[in-house]
Parts: sequence; structure tokens; C-alpha cells
Amino acid sequence: MTATATPKQDIEFASRDRISALQLERLRWSLTHAFENVPHYRQAFDAAGVHPTDLKDLSDLAKFPFTAKADLRANYPFGMFAVPQERVSRIHASSGTTGRPTVVGYTARDLDNWADLVARSLRAGGVKPTDKVHVAYGYGLFTGGLGAHYGAERLGCTVIPMSGGMTERQVQLIQDFRPDAIMVTPSYMLTLVDAMVARGIDPASTSLRTGVFGAEPWTEEMRSELERRLDMDAVDIYGLSEVMGPGVAMECVETKDGLHIWEDHFYPEVIDPVTGEVLPDGEEGELVFTSLTKEAMPVVRYRTRDLTRLLPGTARTMRRMQKVTGRTDDMIILRGVNLFPTQIEELILTIPALAPQFQCVLDRPDRMDRLTVRVEARPDADADSRGRAAADLTKAVKNRIGVSVVVDVTDPAALERSIGKARRLIDNRG
Ligand code: DLL
Repeated sequence: MTATATPKQDIEFASRDRISALQLERLRWSLTHAFENVPHYRQAFDAAGVHPTDLKDLSDLAKFPFTAKADLRANYPFGMFAVPQERVSRIHASSGTTGRPTVVGYTARDLDNWADLVARSLRAGGVKPTDKVHVAYGYGLFTGGLGAHYGAERLGCTVIPMSGGMTERQVQLIQDFRPDAIMVTPSYMLTLVDAMVARGIDPASTSLRTGVFGAEPWTEEMRSELERRLDMDAVDIYGLSEVMGPGVAMECVETKDGLHIWEDHFYPEVIDPVTGEVLPDGEEGELVFTSLTKEAMPVVRYRTRDLTRLLPGTARTMRRMQKVTGRTDDMIILRGVNLFPTQIEELILTIPALAPQFQCVLDRPDRMDRLTVRVEARPDADADSRGRAAADLTKAVKNRIGVSVVVDVTDPAALERSIGKARRLIDNRG
């Protein structure tokens, strides 16, 4: 039997008119499906005085109420499902740092669409049906592992289902199985790079040609670092469990200019996170999604808390989202100045003596907020260059972001290593 590689789909290159027409038709279906089958949506639409038939045009979506993570939690575990349990083929859940996990469900058809979209994403990212793909996203309730897995299989690839952790073993099997592509969080990729170096392996010498990195924010500077150290193409994949999982949006390898949102399945809006007003394309705000085809758990205007802007299509006709700056929850407000860990990452990577392993620690001595950036020195940095690096980073943060921070340059390997999503922000303010 030969592999059934998914061909490039016409819709990826369709005219805007065709995309909009499809969106309108699917949006009507999705709003009706949610209204008729999920009590939460019926109540929320009624309370807002809207009905699915009020959607005459795509812009009418702005009349419909938002859905927040709290709504999903309030309907824990299965209250947001729009189909009877017999039709639910799989359940995923996000661990959630506090309180109840967020539970999501998929029908067989939802899983089929998901595999198609991850296959489409991988192809856009430069992965080929003949490639071996090492999946180091966690398998289990997290959507990363299984989402990546079925998409890579759908594309026709040979999948190596490693999951996260067992770092030494990952390095060994990368050497032995010679995968062409790896799917992993960028922070765990750095952990793998360090483990390679510790074993005397030059990371640039491995068989890896493409890195499909996502599940956490990462910067252009991090892309350069990963591409340089691993001699590969590093591309960005975005998604969230509430909306599907990985493969909601994907960067094309030929342009690496932000992520094309698969607009035939997800309708994006960017809103002002404070007022809820829809912002024009190009303006930064909070990303909001409405699912267009999901059966088991439709979402209407789901607030992702991710900050980005919508941009016109380039390599595909579908709109792009800029690389995510951060989540509204990860925004640090330091003496009146807003900043994100990604801004710190950018600056760290401009200083040669510093490694991109860092944490932002907030505390409040003497009732004044203080931010300490703990960052590892590169292994070859001596005491002098570490001292200079600390001063340079302090100055760069002051000049570029406008706040004073304390910089603590640690020994290499001193900070906690991520095996999945990195924890960049530690708030000890109590
Ligand atoms: O992280 C899904 C995923 C798995 C995406 C593997 C990509 C690769 P959740 O655990 O529900 O789902 O977390 C979703 O992670 O709202 C963003 O804040 C963040 N995130 C995901 N991808 C990116 C990315 C998966 N490429 C949350 N850039 C999202 C920045 C990302 N942040």
C-alpha cells in the first residue's frame, strides 16, 4: 500500500471572496449548532438579545457574546458539548494552573478535520510525506502529542511518538533513528540541544532539517538561535485546546512571516481586551476565535488571551497572525510599565555571553515591585563577560522597555529545565 499524502488544498489559495462566502455559510451553521445544542450558548445569546439568524454578514458576529475560559470551567466537565456522548470520540483537557481543568471533546469528524489541518500545517512548514517526524510534545490529555501525531501520519510521514521527557533517550533516538523533523516546544528543544552538547554531539550535525515549534511564545531571535545551532528551518505552529489543539495557524517555511490562520475552519477576530471592541486588521489586541466546523464542542467568540495582530495573507490567501507576543495573563505590570517575557528573551539573545534559558521573578520587597531576570551564562562565558552581560542586559531593558530590573546571571544549567511549556514568570509577590 502506498501512503496517501494529502495534496495541497485549493482552499489554501482561494480568493478572499470565496473564503468569506465559505465562512459566512459555515458560521451560520456553527452558531445555530451551538444555540440549539448547548444550553450555555442559548442562554448567552438570549441574554444578549441575538439569534443565529441575525448573522447576515460576517461583521454581524460582533453582536454575539464572548466565551471565556470561565464559561468552560462553569460547565465542567461536558456541559459545553453539543453532541450526545456516544458521538464523542475523544476527550482532551488542559491541566490549568489553578482550579478545574478545561475539558474539550471531538467527534470522529472533528478528529478527521484536525488531522487534515495538522497535515496541512506540516506541509506548509516544509515537512514532506517521506519524512520521519520525531514528536516530543507530550502525549495524553494535552493536545500537543496526539494532535501532532495524527497530522504527521495523515501527511504520510513516519511518526516517532516520543512524547516529552527522558531527555537522554530523546537524544539517543535522534542519533539512531535520524528523523528529518521534530515537533516540540522551543524551550524543550533548547534542553535537547544542551543534552546533545553534554554528550559531545554537535546539534548542527543531526539529521533534523525542520523544527515545528509551538505551544508557547518564542521570538524571531529565538528562531535565529535555533536555526543557527541546529542548522534547520524553525517554523511556528499555533493552537489551543479550546479551539482544537495544534494546527489552528501555521507559518509557511518559504516566508516565515507569521502564521496563516486556517480560516476555513476558524474565524478570527482581534479585540481590545479591555473594551471588547473589534479592532481593524493590523492592530494589536486579544485574539478571539469562532469555530466554523466543530461538531462536539463549537466555540463562539472564544477569548484566547493571546496578544497578536491580523495581517493579510502572503504565501497563502488566508490571513496571518503575527507571532504571539504573550498572553494577557503573562503581562508583567512593573511600576506602570507593561512588559512580556518575550521582550526579555529578545534582548537576552542580543548579548553573546547569555544563553536563552531565563526566568522572570517578581517580588515585592519594601512594598515596591521588583523584577529579577535570572538568566544563564553560556558555558564559554568567563566571570568578566558575565559581569558585562548583566550590565548590558540591565541597560538594554531600561532603554528598550523603560524599566529598571535586577539581572542575575547564573551558571549554565542552573535554572529549571522545561520538558514542555517553559515557566517564564514566577510571581512571588504573595
Ligand atoms: O499548546 C496546543 C499546541 C500544542 C500548539 C503544540 C502548538 C503546538 P494549550 O495547552 O491549550 O494548547 O495551550 C494554548 O498556548 O493560547 C497560547 O497562549 C500558547 N501557544 C500555543 N501555541 C503557541 C505559539 C496547546 N505558537 C496556549 N506561540 C495558547 C505562542 C502559543 N503561544
